[in-house]
Amino acid sequence: MTIIPHTFTLLFAQTAPMFDPAELTPIPAPLWFVQFFKILGFVLHLLAMNLWFAGIPLILLMMIFGQKYGMRFAKRMFSQLPIIMAFGINFGIVPLLFLQTVYYKPFYTATILMAWHWMMVIPLVMIAYYSLYIAAFSVGKEKKVAQTFLAGLVASGCLFLVAYIMVYAMSLMGRPDTMAGLWQHGQTFAGTDAAGATYGLGINSSDPTLWYRYGSMFGLAATTVAFWTVFDAMILIPKRREKTPEELRADDDYRRWAGDFAVVVAWIGGVIAATCFYRYIGFVKTNPVFSGFFEEGGNPELFACLLYAVMFVPFLGAIALTCAKLFHLGRLITASGATLCQLIAITIFVISRQWIQNLEISQVVPIKHLAENTQMEPFYTSPLVVFLVLFLLGALVIAWMIRQMAIAPKSAL
Ligand code: HEM
Repeated sequence: MTIIPHTFTLLFAQTAPMFDPAELTPIPAPLWFVQFFKILGFVLHLLAMNLWFAGIPLILLMMIFGQKYGMRFAKRMFSQLPIIMAFGINFGIVPLLFLQTVYYKPFYTATILMAWHWMMVIPLVMIAYYSLYIAAFSVGKEKKVAQTFLAGLVASGCLFLVAYIMVYAMSLMGRPDTMAGLWQHGQTFAGTDAAGATYGLGINSSDPTLWYRYGSMFGLAATTVAFWTVFDAMILIPKRREKTPEELRADDDYRRWAGDFAVVVAWIGGVIAATCFYRYIGFVKTNPVFSGFFEEGGNPELFACLLYAVMFVPFLGAIALTCAKLFHLGRLITASGATLCQLIAITIFVISRQWIQNLEISQVVPIKHLAENTQMEPFYTSPLVVFLVLFLLGALVIAWMIRQMAIAPKSAL
């Protein structure tokens, strides 16, 4: 059976929610609390994930074309990526928990339909992780350039696949109109009937929103790599007294190269993100499920305007980096300006995705009308209080780990 393409099935998208919120288990925390931590966790996940998603292909390109400074960039990034990946994966757990708390109906349906692909994330991430370690330990060694390159290539390939699976899962959650088709499609495998169960092979790659969603994330990821290159060159290269004048000069030359490289990458990334996001909004706008939102007092013009405004957000980093270059701003101002702009860009991007996700999911479960059962009594065993205490402790441990990295003796990278 062929899966009906998105453009066609949109006409049949749900206009009435599938589930009555009164029949569902109340959520264990206020909706604003869940959304706040989901957004916070996703911002942190994106910050790190962007660096490996677009960072590794850029490292590989620089290993081929970047000459002396490109190799230094590769050495610095590859050495940092295993740690960045550890942070990024752990930060990914935060939005995952909140996703499962409120959006469990569409989330489980989507990930069961695509179960094999979803489970593939685990081996793919493991292979990527080991490959990154191999690259990190071999980079900079003259006889191991090919090994470094190959390990980077394997890691990048696996991570590109994981990104596809993630984007697909998030898209399918918002497309309940295609779920029945995918379920039917997975009813027989190798001539055997699944008797109502699913074989978990449901991937509808004809959904045209997929590649634009993927592209917008990749473009944003490139802008994050641009920001990180500058932050790393300006702040993380130690300005040690014991360095020779040649080493200090080489550091300054690398900083200049990093600034130029970042400006180019940030503009290219911005164009990719904006173009893909523009096309993505085109599909989102035509989805009839949004009529529900407008009936509830939403303003369609304002909705479209705000989404189109988000299109320009990925350029924030590029503008900041270009100004820093043109006006010869100092290291600290450049690094803090780029950090602020990138954080704002990522946060607005995540909020806009959350907004779209809420509207899409409301066709399955009207989340605004879900009952809340905030368990605050007894105070000391309240899950909410336990969560907040553990969250604070976790944040303190991360701050301590970053401090340990900052004060650890550094080799002259
Ligand atoms: C293995 C641990 C990981 C976990 C627990 C995790 C978790 C998540 C979660 C929960 C989201 C959705 C957030 C939301 O909608 O609020 C997400 C999005 C995403 N993740 Fe991860 N992630 C992991 C690893 C990765 C890896 C290795 C990549 C590879 C690049 C990746 C790429 C993405 C992308 C591209 C999105 C955006 C999907 C979209 O909304 O279109 N993640 N991740």
